[in-house]
Amino acid sequence: MPCTVIVGGFFGDEGKGKIVAYLARKDKADIAVRGGVGPNAGHTVMFHGKEHKTRMLPSALVSNQTRLMIGPGVLVNVDVLLQEIKNFSTNDRTFVDPQCGIIDSTHIDKDTSDPNLNKIGTTGTGTGPANADRALRKAHLARDSIELSEYLQDIPNTVNSSIDSDQTVLVEGTQGTFLSLYHGTYPYVTSKDVTASAICSDVGIGPKKVSEVMVVYKAYVTRVGSGPLEGELKQEETTSKGWTEFGSVTGRLRRASPFNFELAKRSVMLNSATQVALTKLDIVFPSDSGKREFNSLSSQAKNFVQKIEEVIGLRVAIIGTGQELEDIIDRRQ
Ligand code: IMP
Ligand code: MG
Repeated sequence: MPCTVIVGGFFGDEGKGKIVAYLARKDKADIAVRGGVGPNAGHTVMFHGKEHKTRMLPSALVSNQTRLMIGPGVLVNVDVLLQEIKNFSTNDRTFVDPQCGIIDSTHIDKDTSDPNLNKIGTTGTGTGPANADRALRKAHLARDSIELSEYLQDIPNTVNSSIDSDQTVLVEGTQGTFLSLYHGTYPYVTSKDVTASAICSDVGIGPKKVSEVMVVYKAYVTRVGSGPLEGELKQEETTSKGWTEFGSVTGRLRRASPFNFELAKRSVMLNSATQVALTKLDIVFPSDSGKREFNSLSSQAKNFVQKIEEVIGLRVAIIGTGQELEDIIDRRQ
């Protein structure tokens, strides 16, 4: 399938990074292109025992043959991006659209000092204020940046022609469906829509260019920052279940609740999902850690997966069972 869009089904941090990295290597993706908001997202990929954390580059970077792109709808923090290009030595395969908005220090100052934004519990990375400036038509764009000049490329043109010539393209969404400015728990949301339609728009592809929309859920729900979280557990309960997580950008403790079937169903609708991935099954069912065959899962884990399938009406095609990239059950047909 030439073009797959991957989005988060809850509040971000579902483990999209690992799934995208796995798909990029397994399916030998030619291109991974990031949509979404900007460096407020943190993706973590564990590959061959080494942890890779990114905020700007697509998490598909562990696939050496994949070209890494950032679409025009994404905000760029130039320092963060250049540092990642250096750390991961992706200089010759990183491409940025000239129309990406640029985050400057005034945006970060505003994001960290504005009482309203503090109340929402933003990541403080400047993305909200930068998107506001973009809407006011006063933000700077990547085309104005000398430091980015060597990476500039017309991303919509490249992505569309690659899809047309049957190359494999992964479109990486960031955040999660219920952090969407339109479909989320407003005002406790991020600064733009982050459902599949918006992610496509971010990289310049229309809906008819997409073959699959994969929505990613974690086996439990987490949320960082403020806003409603149905069924939220007390911190002691989260700890005793082993569900404790810290935000990869902010280091904040993530709030947690059990898997939310109603939200899962709604995010299938909002994204017109055709495929489902489920991550961290091993955290809820520790005896299933590292398993790579569906049949070898415990009956409790199988029942859980089957219940999800019944409620949402889609097969759970990819299941994460451990930290390592290859700790995956791949049931795609
Ligand atoms: P902002 O996107 O930094 O403006 O933050 C708005 C809300 O979205 C806050 O609750 C953040 O914690 C949350 N948020 C933004 N990006 C992510 C992400 O990548 N993962 C999880 N939460 C996020
Ligand atoms: Mg994250």
